[in-house]
Amino acid sequence: MGYLVGTTRLPDIHVGSEFHIRRAAEVGSLDVGLQRDADTRRLEHKMKVEVKNLSAWFRDEKEFTGPWYKAFRFRRPRAEKEKQVLHNISVEFEQGEILGIIGPSGSGKSTLIRCINRLHELAPGARVEGEVFFDGQNIYGKGVDPVDTRRQIGMVFQKANPFPNMTVLGNVVAGPKLNGLVKGKDAQYKMAKSVLEEVGLWSEVKDGLKRPGGGLSGGQQQRLCVARALANKPKMLLMDEPCSALDPKSTAIMEGLIIDLAKVRGYGIAIVTHNMGQAKRIADNILFVEDGRVIEYNTKYNIFNGNAKEQRTRDFVEGKFG
Ligand SMILES: Nc1ncnc2c1ncn2[C@@H]1O[C@H](COP(=O)(O)OP(=O)(O)O)[C@@H](O)[C@H]1O
Ligand SMILES: [Mg+2]
Repeated sequence: MGYLVGTTRLPDIHVGSEFHIRRAAEVGSLDVGLQRDADTRRLEHKMKVEVKNLSAWFRDEKEFTGPWYKAFRFRRPRAEKEKQVLHNISVEFEQGEILGIIGPSGSGKSTLIRCINRLHELAPGARVEGEVFFDGQNIYGKGVDPVDTRRQIGMVFQKANPFPNMTVLGNVVAGPKLNGLVKGKDAQYKMAKSVLEEVGLWSEVKDGLKRPGGGLSGGQQQRLCVARALANKPKMLLMDEPCSALDPKSTAIMEGLIIDLAKVRGYGIAIVTHNMGQAKRIADNILFVEDGRVIEYNTKYNIFNGNAKEQRTRDFVEGKFG
């Protein structure tokens, strides 16, 4: 039994990174309409993330600059004590879809995706207003466990960050072990094998599961981090410039993997990227943000075929600024 992508039937089990390079070439070349529907037709219910009028603040760094400011702090109004970095953002993506988030650096892209799985609030004094619905439930609503949200909406960071001093296997099973989802060595091995296969890493690491995760190549480490996120059985994945530290071949593998995860495995993915070629290759829709505001939210097709609504967007994707 395999999955149907376009007219090509592909095997269930990945045999390694070559698979993902092929997948990128196959799926990436389909037109936008086909790509959108490729395989998520199999999902009876597509879960969706809907960001509605989201704003976010950081505590102003001035707060920390010494006793003089500490004394002064009490007399400053709240608006001066914090810095707003996101203004009324609305956007959505669903299972099977890849949302590309682009914009100049410092525009709030990382903050935005960190708000989608409640990581933003971990910065001291940081806060959020607005709503983020995941499968119809506001993740900022009463009684929602942020740890649970972070499990269901996984995150992969710019710099591959396998847990230091942990083996390849240890990295993958760390989350589920902590949550008591897998008990016993056999179950852990089975689970690790299945997610490492899912990211195309199994054939490369199966003989070195007990070696430190940090000993893998950069591209392998990043796929290990994807595997670690997948081990928590998320429905959606957030990726913050996951390829920006990788060489071209590792980038191609990651792009194939990302397409595969969305189009075949049915994850919903929001990826921040500063690589316009990458956004063009893998995204379905594009969100362009600048200074914490949405400048344009449109299909990849419109954005990269000269049909962007805003001149600012056209300038940005053509490399005229940012
Ligand atoms: N921990 C923090 N404390 C205060 N300000 C921050 C913090 N992290 C980021 N910022 C500020 O928030 C804004 C948005 O940052 P960020 O979301 O990282 O942008 P991007 O990912 O688009 O480069 C920037 O002005 C940045 O300086
Ligand atoms: Mg960033």
